[in-house]
Amino acid sequence: MRYAIITDHVVLNLYGERIYRQYKNEGKDVALLSFPAGEAFKTRSVKENLENQLLSLGYIRDTTIVALGGGVVIDLVGFLASTFCRGVPLILMPTTVVGMVDASIGGKTGVNGPGGKNMIGTFYNAAQTVIDYNFLHTLPEKEWFNGRVEMLKAALVWDRDFFENFSTFSDFQAIQRSRTIKEAIVSQDPYDRGVRRLLNLGHTFAHALEVLSHYRISHGEAVAFGVVFDARISYEMGVLSKDDFSQIQNVFPPIFLDFSCEEMLQKMRLDKKNSNNLLHCILLQKIGLATQSVVPENVIKRVLDDTRLCAGKNIQVG
Ligand code: GLY
Repeated sequence: MRYAIITDHVVLNLYGERIYRQYKNEGKDVALLSFPAGEAFKTRSVKENLENQLLSLGYIRDTTIVALGGGVVIDLVGFLASTFCRGVPLILMPTTVVGMVDASIGGKTGVNGPGGKNMIGTFYNAAQTVIDYNFLHTLPEKEWFNGRVEMLKAALVWDRDFFENFSTFSDFQAIQRSRTIKEAIVSQDPYDRGVRRLLNLGHTFAHALEVLSHYRISHGEAVAFGVVFDARISYEMGVLSKDDFSQIQNVFPPIFLDFSCEEMLQKMRLDKKNSNNLLHCILLQKIGLATQSVVPENVIKRVLDDTRLCAGKNIQVG
């Protein structure tokens, strides 16, 4: 068996050499490949370039791919592993909180299309996932923010106690609890046809925002905006109580957002969850309980127009 560790340039500098040596010291035949960091590089051409490098190194079916990095690396490299020689074993080594609590669980892989996030991809489960909290020692604050947003989002759709007591959890307890939530949801709906879609709370809005900002707004910031947006829609539609809505707003406080309503709507219409030209949103019935529903465009427009909300930088944990 030959191994190929694939990472991005940031993680390459931090951990590439160490993990490469680890494999070498175990007597393994291993190569280390990398690509530029960031959501903007999660593309078909970057994947193709890595595939060409593997093929020119003589890698064939007896390959195990190791994805070393955060969500972008896991999505792209997971996709590559699922199609290389019709699928080769995949080992995930998440190095960020988002990687640990979201991307490494449930087998979603993919790259972005020209106008939409994660439009091309597969479901492909890893053979092994290595959770090593030591990677988090070098994690920048911005990445902790992204991770906390994902954890709070999981709490909002599934686990009221976790949401309400989030600040009492240590980072590692919170990561563990979030992993448990996602594993429970994914085991009920591995192919995203039902309950798993609840994890997309805030994501229709978030993906539109990420694409419009050319990925200058991070996924975590965009989801924080999106969570308040979906909570506001839930409140406007009479599904969520004012008390719960206020509690959510207090965690993700409102700030101004600078895209036109029409631009946002156009991008939101492209979301994978939509069907028959109807916009689907994840609504909150209460904190810890979510549902999927069609939302009339006039409600979306009103909330986009009225509030041009969104979300905050002061998420705390521990
Ligand atoms: N990130 C949402 C999911 O895995 O379904």
